[in-house]
Amino acid sequence: MQDLKKSLATIIDQYVSDIEEKEIYESLETPSNPTMGDYALPCFKFAKTFRKSPQLIAEEITTAIGKIDFIEKIENVGAYINFYVDKIMLATQIIEEVLTKKENYGLDNSKSKGNIVIDYSSPNIAKPFHVGHLRSTVIGNSLYKIFEALGYNCIGVNHLGDWGTQFGKLIVAYKKYSSKQEVEEKGIAELLRIYVLFHQEAEKDSKLDDLAREYFKKMEQSDEAALELWKWFKEISLKEFERVYDMLDVKFDSFNGEAFYNDKMRDIIQELDDKELTKISEGAKIIELENMPPCLITKKDGSTLYATRDITAAKYRYTTYKFDKCIYVTALQQNLHFAQFFKVIEKMGYSWAKNLIHVPFGMVSMETGALSTRAGNILFLEEILEEAIKKTKAIIEEKNPALPNKDEVAKQVGIGAVIFDDMYNNIIKDIQFSWDKVLNFDGETGPYVQYTHARACSVIRKSNVKIEEIKDIDLSLVCDETSISLIKQIGKFEETIKDAATKYEPSCIARYAVGVAQVFNKFYHDNPILVSDEKLKLSRLALVLATIYTIRNALYLLGIKAPEQM
Ligand code: ARG
Repeated sequence: MQDLKKSLATIIDQYVSDIEEKEIYESLETPSNPTMGDYALPCFKFAKTFRKSPQLIAEEITTAIGKIDFIEKIENVGAYINFYVDKIMLATQIIEEVLTKKENYGLDNSKSKGNIVIDYSSPNIAKPFHVGHLRSTVIGNSLYKIFEALGYNCIGVNHLGDWGTQFGKLIVAYKKYSSKQEVEEKGIAELLRIYVLFHQEAEKDSKLDDLAREYFKKMEQSDEAALELWKWFKEISLKEFERVYDMLDVKFDSFNGEAFYNDKMRDIIQELDDKELTKISEGAKIIELENMPPCLITKKDGSTLYATRDITAAKYRYTTYKFDKCIYVTALQQNLHFAQFFKVIEKMGYSWAKNLIHVPFGMVSMETGALSTRAGNILFLEEILEEAIKKTKAIIEEKNPALPNKDEVAKQVGIGAVIFDDMYNNIIKDIQFSWDKVLNFDGETGPYVQYTHARACSVIRKSNVKIEEIKDIDLSLVCDETSISLIKQIGKFEETIKDAATKYEPSCIARYAVGVAQVFNKFYHDNPILVSDEKLKLSRLALVLATIYTIRNALYLLGIKAPEQM
């Protein structure tokens, strides 16, 4: 699409040569009130350069420009110059682009812009996969799609927490309180039961902790029997995680978790020593940092830590992928950890340290009584998703019992609702989960957006016009206010994607999708679509079709499906 703002800046620049085009471009605003034009140039900033009042500058520039071919009207109000873009030209440009690109509208799938590593989900084996991990999973998945839409090649990494002292504990607990048969039968639930039990017992008997440390040490020294058990626990957990990933339709390009770096840490520790960054403090190896607590590299007994593995992983990823950015999606409680290890990478002298990005998010709390008490484990997550599907199915049974494919639609809407809720607000905010809010078909929710999409699809179906026939449209017929605001909203998709990527905020897309749905519903209310005037019908159908592609692609970027009927 022609970047109108850019063209406008170029033209204005011809009349105010004292100011750089870039500055004009950056000064051009998009008024939130459309009666004040599509673009507005405030002239306050130029007063210094011209030694004139901003009002006078605005007036003089307005007169000097006179006329621009794609601008309908130029108006000077006080220190502002307002530009009204030619509606028909704008409508034609936007709608033609959407109808040409179709399911690719807004999505540059070239993978030509460099590599971006995204580390998300990353649950801990044998520890609970909690709602925070669900949030990391859906936010990371969305960022993956957003950066991919901008032409990057993304590498999704599930940095599994599959190494650490918790495995020593688990081995001890397994030997004491469980059996092969029980673990095979009950899976993660059993691992979790004995892990919790271990903690209770260790409170009374500290020898258990020593034993656990010994087992972990054995693992670090490649003791076969210990590693055998570790591998088995990992397989069991992974199988269950996969079920949740399947439900969410989330995929990873790599499952290289913490254990993957075991044989790679020694070189990194050596490098840290060689660069004289480390120091021994009470037997532990640490790196002192300014304005932050030191970063722990090895414990007294020589065992490594979470940070040691992250430093190693970052370097491995840079060597392997030469990433433009490496993004970590976790709860904000880990802010310090990331700040520390990013600093260590910087101290190692790696310029790419500045391309390590932590994307923190807030907590999710459950409304009381909403869900059963098995809080904190993988079953609990499946329970939320299953519950969402069940509740959606009940709504469908009530509203549209004849719907074909009810189960599939209930799954797409129920799960979509939970995902959408996770990303509707700035992700740093805490969210209070409430079924009424999440599944409300009229609120600013996933189901509302999906429902609007389905409604648009149904208009196309009822028209009996084939999609291929929606072309050569006369857009001068759809220049009423609501049609134009729908078209303009559709036209903002690309800039919204860029904005979401710059801010690492899938919520930009979620809010945008609600915006499209809202204007579409207004358009639909104000304009009968299936009218007898064929030309008018076709041009309105073009807007409906463009809305379908836009909403569908926006939902896709959030990792949400768009059923055609619901
Ligand atoms: N496993 C960690 C947790 O559950 C999250 C890992 C995030 N990724 C990383 N490279 N540290 O808290």
